[in-house]
Amino acid sequence: MKILRAPFLWASTNPFLARRLPRYGFVRRAVRRFMPGETAGDALAEAGRINQRGAGAILTLLGENATSGEDARKIVDHYKGVLDGMRRDGLDVEISVKPTHLGMDFGPAVAELNLKELLEHAAEDATMVWVDMEASGYVDDTLEIFRAARAAYVHVGLCLQAYLYRTEDDLEALLPLAPAVRLVKGAYREPSSVAYPSKVDVDAAYLRLCERLLAARAEGKVARPAFGTHDPVLIRNVIAVADRVGVSRSRWEVEMLYGIGTRDQDRLLHQGCTVRILVSYGTDWFPWYMRRLAERPANLGFVLRQLLPV
Ligand code: FDA
Repeated sequence: MKILRAPFLWASTNPFLARRLPRYGFVRRAVRRFMPGETAGDALAEAGRINQRGAGAILTLLGENATSGEDARKIVDHYKGVLDGMRRDGLDVEISVKPTHLGMDFGPAVAELNLKELLEHAAEDATMVWVDMEASGYVDDTLEIFRAARAAYVHVGLCLQAYLYRTEDDLEALLPLAPAVRLVKGAYREPSSVAYPSKVDVDAAYLRLCERLLAARAEGKVARPAFGTHDPVLIRNVIAVADRVGVSRSRWEVEMLYGIGTRDQDRLLHQGCTVRILVSYGTDWFPWYMRRLAERPANLGFVLRQLLPV
């Protein structure tokens, strides 16, 4: 199945397929497994159900690479509406944003301004705004806007990708800011010059970063370590490291994607772990869905089953 990862990642950046495939009903039906609906209302309703299960939620509007300043402006306004909706409904919800959705392609200053506007809107109740990490070409600018935002706000967190060789140094350089960090394996197609090509090496890097994050948390140098993974072996290791360095289960968290590992989420909650579920929604789901298929090509079977009559 590993051999199928590359074609899905290639498809995730192909504009022709992005226009064509979402028209097919069976593809749309398959996407529903990972997404409760296309509107913010659908996502907020699902967040309410997640909260009832004892987990927090994170909402993210699907889409990337805003095509104009105006386009990015619409995304900011959209998220402001979501923050208002979550306050109105009294939900435990945070948001996660992609720098390119906030206009990074028009310069980091544009994305930084938009991020700060969101942080200002979220400041009333200090709702966390997570900054996603995209393809490796955006990492320097993303670190720059995160640093600028962190200098002014505490309720901002950053995603770091274990597959990049540079991430251990990046984390070390960020620690003086006492950042909130979400550690993930990494989801983009990257050359072996910048990222570990093999799963074994990515997992090993993930564990080293986990050790560093939790040790820093024990010393008060990380505001909030979040482990964004569904990998049961890694999660067991995270729990073991946290217990060893004496960081209690309320001081770090596991974050998972909606529709993946639901039973594991409940089991972790039962064990007293803090769990947050990231709910994606929106109409612009094609590249994101291709990355989900790349993570587990066996999901293709689920897509094909949607072709069968019910
Ligand atoms: P791995 O891929 O090894 O999967 C472990 C197990 O989890 C699999 O064996 C399978 O059982 C299950 N699983 C994983 N993916 C699945 C899928 N798609 N369908 C069904 N089962 C699946 N990446 C990035 O580059 N930038 C970012 O900002 C983020 N943000 C982010 C936030 C959150 C909350 C999460 C959970 C993930 C991200 N990611 C991300 C994605 C991340 O980089 C990674 O691609 C996925 O989490 C899959 O990797 P795992 O750690 O789950 O391990």
